[in-house]
Amino acid sequence: MRLVLVGPPGAGKGTQAQLIASHLLVPKISTGDIFRKNVAEGTPLGREAKRYMDAGDLVPDEVTIGMVRDRLAAEDVRDGFLLDGFPRTVPQAEALDALLAEMGTSLSVVLELVVDDDEVVRRLSGRRTCSDCGHIWHVTYDPPTLDGVCDLCGGKLFQREDDREETIRHRLEVYYDQTAPLIDYYAARGILEGIDAMGPVEEVTARAVAALRHWR
Ligand code: AP5
Repeated sequence: MRLVLVGPPGAGKGTQAQLIASHLLVPKISTGDIFRKNVAEGTPLGREAKRYMDAGDLVPDEVTIGMVRDRLAAEDVRDGFLLDGFPRTVPQAEALDALLAEMGTSLSVVLELVVDDDEVVRRLSGRRTCSDCGHIWHVTYDPPTLDGVCDLCGGKLFQREDDREETIRHRLEVYYDQTAPLIDYYAARGILEGIDAMGPVEEVTARAVAALRHWR
């Protein structure tokens, strides 16, 4: 299955991507994670991406598309993949269609996670991420046993630079302006499936898995 997850920042894409990818046995490709890894390693790509990410803006299309093209050329995505956070603009969606057509394939489905803006702010302002294993926690919804320490690996938890309230509001504006048009783009192609992403993580996963059954 070749699947895209779309939704506003904080909709739970990263959380669900991990769970759904394990369920479908496909690799998860998160452009946000790839950028953050490059930032942490201080690569030229990371240095370029950082100024956009910290401001809550999108990294330019040509940079992002080139990075995804390289990743989709890898052997492990031949039988399917889950894209988290890409595409994020109509030009990115068109580039992905063209890239998959070159590979003789196409997307199976685009899963939209639907949440309201107040919930986005609650989720992002409480998010904490493990610096070692990358697991995503939440100070209220899914707190670790020990403050600031990952239950899974003992790693130190950190708050993302772009999770400050004013940046969150700006990311939401960017979402409605540049990413929300993808909903119509994929609806017109007949491959859009929307699910209610409010409520506990496991309920959202169950809804996602049930919705995806029709597309396998
Ligand atoms: P990216 O990392 O993709 O950020 P995002 O889309 O803004 O999404 P988030 O990671 O913030 O949220 P999420 O939906 O994954 O939510 P999560 O599961 O963590 O991108 C970051 C930046 O990179 C962008 O701003 C841009 O600069 C750049 N970038 C990336 N891709 C790009 C592209 N294609 N083009 C250009 N630039 C790009 O959940 C959030 C919190 O809520 C967590 O604490 C979690 O525990 C909690 N939570 C999750 N689900 C639930 C639930 N059901 N109930 C209660 N709490 C929940």
